Parts: sequence; structure tokens; C-alpha cells
Amino acid sequence: MSQTSSRIQEILQQFETFLTDQAPNVPSFHTHYETALWEMMLNGGKRFRPALLFCIVDALSPHLIKNAFLPALSIECIHTYSLIHDDLPCMDNASLRRGHPTLHTKYDETLALLIGDGLNTHAFTLLAQSKLDPHTKIALIETLSHNAGIGGMVLGQVLDCAFEDTKLSLEQLKTIHTNKTAKLIAASLQSGAIIADTDSQFQETLYQFGIHLGVFFQLRDDIIDVCSTSAQAGKTTHNDTDKNSYVNLLGLQDAQKTFQTMRQDITRALESFPLAIQTNLNALLQDYFKDIE
Ligand code: IPE
Ligand code: IPE
Ligand code: MG
Ligand code: MG
Ligand code: MG
Repeated sequence: MSQTSSRIQEILQQFETFLTDQAPNVPSFHTHYETALWEMMLNGGKRFRPALLFCIVDALSPHLIKNAFLPALSIECIHTYSLIHDDLPCMDNASLRRGHPTLHTKYDETLALLIGDGLNTHAFTLLAQSKLDPHTKIALIETLSHNAGIGGMVLGQVLDCAFEDTKLSLEQLKTIHTNKTAKLIAASLQSGAIIADTDSQFQETLYQFGIHLGVFFQLRDDIIDVCSTSAQAGKTTHNDTDKNSYVNLLGLQDAQKTFQTMRQDITRALESFPLAIQTNLNALLQDYFKDIE
């Protein structure tokens, strides 16, 4: 059973209903564009990035939780677009995602590519529509576009794909993981702090914590790729053979040791946060701290 605090769990349940209700209305004479657009969003996923944002808002400004739904959805749109593109034949060429066939296998590559593009831009419509003051919205737009964009996730994905078949150093791998995964995770925590209107120093502390957490998250994902079946993971696994991953660079045993060390560092770093944040994040992260075998 999930360890996530019952309040965050409840918020996440309400968020699922909200996400379903937010399916975009774009009728056309295309037979399945409108359905396919929201399909991968509805297919589930752990909603880790929205949950991180909710942990912060709930801890610091619980009265703003509902106003945080559109920004959280916006981040989930960006993340889902990144998965749709990540699975394309020109990238990781994967056929299963969130327990369902990837969009390009169910439909075709062109539609999957364009739906990824659509979710990427739609994220910013959602941010613009959120019920927050203009300064807050601009700060959210800045952190999301910066961390998901050209100096963030996009850069990470470029490096990840360009250097397949070339063995990189651990430092270079960390650069890839920081960009492709950790920056969006850090931006999710920072967005929570922006909504709660904390000072910029605290936002920065939370962001740096998010970078460490995000690298840990990708290391964990690298281990899942070798240790889990596709059925267990709900996505194509054993797919990183040619990639630079923690497992390929260090071997499984040392990757597992690094997992344990990072988990310990993150647990310690959490202790410096206000108690309400500690409580929420500790509860959420228990599921991610479990050993992977
Ligand atoms: C998968 O992200 C891609 C990575 C950054 C490792 P998640 O593991 O959060 O995927 P979903 O959202 O639960 O499907
Ligand atoms: C994906 O990393 C990072 C993204 C920005 C989507 P992976 O390629 O390892 O993610 P999975 O294993 O396919 O989910
Ligand atoms: Mg990838
Ligand atoms: Mg992949
Ligand atoms: Mg992976």
C-alpha cells in the first residue's frame, strides 16, 4: 500500500478527477485527434511531479491547493509530452507506456509527434488560465519553460540520444540525468514554493534539493530498466542496452550502492526543511525509497 500521507493521497485523487475533466475540447473532422490528445494523460502514471508541487503548497499555503491544480496539470502535460517523444522510434523506440501501447504504435508516428507538440504548448495555456496573481504566473512560466526547455530537459534528451553507443564519464552521465529528468522535478518543487510565495532563497534551496532528488529518480529508473519486466514497470524495459545509464557505467551492484547512498543523502537533506514539508515529502518518497530487486 502507498505510504503517501492520506491528505496528499486525497489531493491526488481529486487531481485525477480534475485531469479527466480537463480533457481539451478540440473537435474536428479528424476521427481520433481529440481522443488521442488526452489519451496518454488519462493512461495514468505516478503523478510524481504534481505530487511534489502539492507537498509544498499543502505544507505552506494549504488554502491555495485548488489554485495549484492547473499549474500541476501543466507540469504533467510537459512530462507526458516528454514521454510520448521519448518513446518515438527516433529516440528510445518503445512500444509500451503507462501500461498501454505507445501513441505511435497505436496510431502513427506523425500523430504521436504532433500530440507531444500539442501538450507542450497546451501546458502554457493552462498556466495562463490558472487563478493566481500575474507575478506568480510569470514566475511559473519562467521556471517551467526554462527547466523543460532548451537548457533543461530538451538538452538532456539531446545528449542522451546523441551519445548512445559512446561511453561517457560518470560526470557526463550526471549532466544528462540532471537535464533530462532532475530539472523538471526541481521545477515542480520550486513551483510549489512560488505558489506559496516563499522568498527566492528558499526556492533555490528547494530547487537544489530537487536536482538531487531528480538524479536519484533517474538512477532508480535506470535500475528499473534492468530489474523489472515490462509488465511490472508498465513500460518497455531492458531498453537501455546502448544508453549511458548508471547500471551500464557502474554495473548493477554499484548502481544499487549509489541508490542507497543517494537515498540516505536525500533523507538527511530533508531534515533541514520545515516540519510540514518534511512530513509530506517523507511520506511521498517512501514508495520511491523501496529497494528495487
Ligand atoms: C518516466 O517518468 C521518465 C523518467 C524521467 C524516468 P515517471 O517514472 O515519472 O513516469 P510516469 O509519469 O509514472 O509514467
Ligand atoms: C526519460 O528517460 C527522460 C525523459 C525526459 C522522458 P528514460 O528514457 O530513461 O525514461 P523511460 O525509462 O523511457 O520512462
Ligand atoms: Mg530516454
Ligand atoms: Mg525511454
Ligand atoms: Mg528509463
